[in-house]
Amino acid sequence: MAKRTIADVEVSGKRVFLRADFNVPFTATGAIADDRRIRMTLPSIESVLRRGGSLVLASHLGRPKGKGFEPEFSLAPVARRLSELLGVLVRKPVTVPSHSCVDDASRAAVTALRPGEAVLLENLRFEPGEKQGDSAFAASLAVCGQIYCNDAFGCSHRNDASMFALPAAMAGKPRVAGLLLAKEVQYLSGVIHSPSHPFVAIVGGAKVSDKLAALRNLIGRVDTILVGGAMAYTLLSARGIAVGRSMIQSDMASSAAEILALASRQGTALELPIDHVCGEKLEAHTPLRYCTGAIDEGWMGLDIGAATVQRYSEIVAGAKLIVWNGPMGAFETKPFDQGTMALARAIVSATKRGATSVVGGGDSAAAVEEAGLAGEFSHVSTGGGASLELLEGRAFDTFTVLDDG
Ligand code: 3PG
Repeated sequence: MAKRTIADVEVSGKRVFLRADFNVPFTATGAIADDRRIRMTLPSIESVLRRGGSLVLASHLGRPKGKGFEPEFSLAPVARRLSELLGVLVRKPVTVPSHSCVDDASRAAVTALRPGEAVLLENLRFEPGEKQGDSAFAASLAVCGQIYCNDAFGCSHRNDASMFALPAAMAGKPRVAGLLLAKEVQYLSGVIHSPSHPFVAIVGGAKVSDKLAALRNLIGRVDTILVGGAMAYTLLSARGIAVGRSMIQSDMASSAAEILALASRQGTALELPIDHVCGEKLEAHTPLRYCTGAIDEGWMGLDIGAATVQRYSEIVAGAKLIVWNGPMGAFETKPFDQGTMALARAIVSATKRGATSVVGGGDSAAAVEEAGLAGEFSHVSTGGGASLELLEGRAFDTFTVLDDG
């Protein structure tokens, strides 16, 4: 069901508690490596500031121990980036008022907020109550806002206190979805519940175990599943095809066989790579060998080959809806990024011809971002685990607790 969004509520003169997912990656020197999650939250933030509301922003960052402040997990760099991105739209720079999101200094900064101002509370996971989903911790956050807004799609599969106990504690006040959350759910659950056809799912990544539930849920709903990445070797092996020294999960052999049987019973075409770029080792300058069909003894499949790229690209070209989760090869190590990049370009071409394309977060989103192609897809999710769980067909409590639209 559609949820009420921040755009639907009167925010003028009100303080909005906005739970974001500012869990961004950092470089070795401490700079923000990819600010996409911050940029994607701007529409909600701007919507409140432009209409004369004020914002109490809150997020987790990384996985601190829940024993108080740890400098490497501080949200201060995020506050600086937000101030740069918002420019004059925010009345004064966004700051993190204190080392704890619930101490007196934080509370004073929240109560001093004026319309058009925003404050960013320090990492919620510095407090043990956040991961515990603790209602007393949630109650101490609840006093910060007159409206609760969840724009943290990337965290929506976690029942952390700020995601679930907090909106529950704010019953009676507006509890709405942010514009990013609404867009994510519209695309990702839309593709599952009301897809257009032909519907092609592209599933890759290292482990078949990580994608098993998504594969099970997609079979019967999609017309074709294109499989790549190391997980393809476990499935090829289950089909009785030699895979050399490729990384397989032998303990998943029976689950892999069950998936193949399920696809054939349900009439879903499940395509596996027909050729492979192989290496001796997973290293940049490893000797290479190209294998068709079976993989030669002693070699590891590390990317899909040119014939597979062509076959998958042709299938993608005929699709009306494409969902992509997981790279086609060991894309962090060149030259094993080529299959992933070629498929990304094929999806972009299909999108330009009118198909809807949705990239689940995580590695495939990182790959399209790195290739500068993120803007060319219909939607690139900001959620890794969350987008996968939606594709698995799960319903999130953190979404259910929000007001219906
Ligand atoms: C993510 O990056 O997937 C989200 O921010 C959730 O983070 P978590 O896996 O540490 O809960």
